[in-house]
Amino acid sequence: MTKLWGSRFAKGTDVLADQFSFSIAYDQNLAKYDVQVGIAHARMLGKCGIIPKQDAARLVSGLQKIASQIADGVFKFDPKAEDVHTNIQTALKGLIGPAADRLHTARSRNDLIALDMKLYCREEIKVIIGLIAQLQKAIVGFAGRHQDVIMPAYTHLQSAQVVLLAHHMLAYVEMLERDKGRLKAAVAHMDSMPLGSCALSGTSLPIDRDFVAKTLGFARPTANSMDSVSDRDFAVETLADVAILGMHCSRVAEDFILWGTSEFNFLDIDWSLCTGSSIMPHKKNPDVLELIRGETANLYSRLNEVLILMKGLPLTYNRDMQLDKPPLFESVDKIKVILKLLTKLFTGVKVKKQDIVRRIYDEGFFSVDVMEYLIKKGVSYRAAHDLVGTMIKGCVDQGKKIVDLTLGQLKAYSPYFEEDVKALLDPKISVESKKSFGSTNPKLVRQQIAKWKKLLD
Ligand code: ARG
Repeated sequence: MTKLWGSRFAKGTDVLADQFSFSIAYDQNLAKYDVQVGIAHARMLGKCGIIPKQDAARLVSGLQKIASQIADGVFKFDPKAEDVHTNIQTALKGLIGPAADRLHTARSRNDLIALDMKLYCREEIKVIIGLIAQLQKAIVGFAGRHQDVIMPAYTHLQSAQVVLLAHHMLAYVEMLERDKGRLKAAVAHMDSMPLGSCALSGTSLPIDRDFVAKTLGFARPTANSMDSVSDRDFAVETLADVAILGMHCSRVAEDFILWGTSEFNFLDIDWSLCTGSSIMPHKKNPDVLELIRGETANLYSRLNEVLILMKGLPLTYNRDMQLDKPPLFESVDKIKVILKLLTKLFTGVKVKKQDIVRRIYDEGFFSVDVMEYLIKKGVSYRAAHDLVGTMIKGCVDQGKKIVDLTLGQLKAYSPYFEEDVKALLDPKISVESKKSFGSTNPKLVRQQIAKWKKLLD
């Protein structure tokens, strides 16, 4: 059995203990990064005269071969070799012979795994940011195609005021933009290179950590060898940012689940994202969206898993830390699929404009507009709120609508009312009356759509 250690061992390890501790079943994702690191490290060892130049050249060309085998999907992982590092080390020995024994000079798996993981996080975050941008584009496109749709908006899931559908959609775009910002910040936080910290204290060999940092595109080497091999903040931060992104995706999913019900009936989710019922032939269920909502629970629990894993660990490296991989990889893989599916949702969904229009004339939607009518005439907010509340109660009690009140009846509520107040009881007037920056005013929403189109192109 191939191991990177063992000469000091009085006997072989227990088979069950091996099965229990090997990570090769789940750390293969890291192979391509492990090789990249190996190449940079070998070049540095040769350049610094720590190993013979010919051996460095042999290491580099052997690792390059392994890199293309990995890229082509033909690299054979040996399940009996403890982890990804051991696998690559063993394969390299097979390819180039004894020179391979020099690769692990001035490094340990402790600093190596930290670096592999940072490279993984950095690359995957870039992919996730690209997928978020695709989703934002799909949402902005959808908003742009439906700029004339006015819909009810809710607080407490109770009808509140009317807004443009496009305005609601752009709320999602804002949420996703913050997600991109968080992920970019996470990449900036992980911009230091741990290799050369070795087991935990550094090395007596004359290595050049700046060279390796620069070669692998990091701003700097890490400044404390003990922190370098103990740190998993970058994994936790990636998981946290992905969890928040998942929260946003699940809220989008929930809006569309609600709006697709026959009770709301605002839109039709494309058949390709729905499933049927084994017993009720009429059903069209939004399972994909429900699973996005459900998978978000798993995104949270994986974040929790790693937070708990790391809590209270003594410095520096502990084998517990190996268990950060499955949750990290699973969350990264899952969020990428969720983002792709939501992008499809926005490309295929059909808005039922006629059904929405029928719902936006309830006078309750315009209570704030009527209140602001009075405020503009000098009435205090408090008095206006009370007046409009009393008027609505009076109407409900008498089974009347505000539009049907005579001028005399209006004036009985407030002398400030004129006939023109009735014009406010209209969805189009309501959205157009909004003036504040960030409001649902159609002109402002149009500007926002144009801004996002430009930004996302
Ligand atoms: N498989 C290990 C991990 O993922 C690599 C580091 C092992 N280091 C050690 N000293 N056993 O954390």
